[in-house]
Amino acid sequence: MPFDTARQMTIYGCFQEQATFVIYVKQEQRAKELGDECLSTIFRLNARDEIAHCRFYEDVVRVLLEEDREGTLRDIAHVAKHFEMPGVGIVPNYEERVAVMREEGKVDRGGFLQKVFFPVLKYLEVTRHELQAAAWASKEADKHSTAAE
Ligand SMILES: [Fe+2]
Repeated sequence: MPFDTARQMTIYGCFQEQATFVIYVKQEQRAKELGDECLSTIFRLNARDEIAHCRFYEDVVRVLLEEDREGTLRDIAHVAKHFEMPGVGIVPNYEERVAVMREEGKVDRGGFLQKVFFPVLKYLEVTRHELQAAAWASKEADKHSTAAE
């Protein structure tokens, strides 16, 4: 597991499922351009499935925000900073494969922000400003706990 707590893993789920959704939508468009109606339908159904997973995780995170907004914001900032797709470290020759997938329309950093990160924040009704403040507060807390040791 890429993160330590259930809350962080739930937040990770939002980003990972949204990213998968975006990838399938791109593949759907590509299949459509190539005139493959069957393949584009398969990708469309997969995309719909992934966005349902994403909404589930997001709805759980909304409850977590109600329960402990400050702590959940800190975790969102942490997960966003350390996010990697699940294939990293599992798939052999991941870097080579990613190079091919990028060519074929996978998500790069800019795409991640625009199509994954910002839409998830919007659904969660969390602003970037709030997240930055939470990240800054936890950095300060780390500094003080290190100084105290
Ligand atoms: Fe999924």
